[in-house]
Amino acid sequence: MATYRPDSHTLLKADSIVEYVQETTVYPREHECLREIRNITQKHPLSFMGSSPEQIQFFSLLLKMIGARNAVEVGVFTGYSLLATALALPDDGRVVAIDVSRDYYELGRPAIEKAGVAHKVDFRQGDGLAVLDQLLAEAGDGGGKLFDFAYADANKEQYHGYHERLLRLVRVGGVVAYDNTLWGGSVAMPRDTPGSSAYDRVVRDYMLGFNAMVAADDRVEACLLPAADGVTLCRRIK
Ligand SMILES: C[S@@+](CC[C@H](N)C(=O)[O-])C[C@H]1O[C@@H](n2cnc3c(N)ncnc32)[C@H](O)[C@@H]1O
Repeated sequence: MATYRPDSHTLLKADSIVEYVQETTVYPREHECLREIRNITQKHPLSFMGSSPEQIQFFSLLLKMIGARNAVEVGVFTGYSLLATALALPDDGRVVAIDVSRDYYELGRPAIEKAGVAHKVDFRQGDGLAVLDQLLAEAGDGGGKLFDFAYADANKEQYHGYHERLLRLVRVGGVVAYDNTLWGGSVAMPRDTPGSSAYDRVVRDYMLGFNAMVAADDRVEACLLPAADGVTLCRRIK
């Protein structure tokens, strides 16, 4: 039976494999300011919240592949994924960054400024659903033309709500990404797997429903990548 590893950042068989990937392919060309945020994050008591560097490297590539100019991120924390996004966008690009906490964002903000991309960042403090509603209201009827890419990584139990809003905010052909959709692999394990907390079980159950909904959603072409903690990509097709 698979082992539940709630603190691990990888579903791979061993941490040494992800370390190999990071050491060979991610860290050598990681922007120095991203490294700065990663170091700040590693010292934070909630460091487990930081997105996996190899996943964010992939997003960076993806943003360039789809020619993204405008992005939105729900769940900023110390800003690792936010800075990677800002770096991947053209100079006149924009990323709306949403988080309930400004304090976490402030930890990484000096590095974002040092990287010379702060002018692309529009930080909005607030609840993810409320700020997405605000963006929809700002967009008016042209809402669907706003964003090329969205990354949802905030309150896991709001993913259905993010999905409905992001599919109106992201253009047809744009991509919405969700983090943690395999929740430590627990979605494929018995509910009472040793090592899982009550919260893990709640999120596991939620993700089972969310993943099933996405798989059946004909508005998107979806892919659940078994990388990091599970990354779902949805390309909006209608
Ligand atoms: C997993 S972390 C985000 C990690 C980040 N993407 C990175 O690359 O490091 C989740 C963040 O979501 C924020 N958050 C939690 N609930 C939220 C909500 N309802 N609305 C907006 N942000 C929320 C937390 O404050 C936290 O900073």
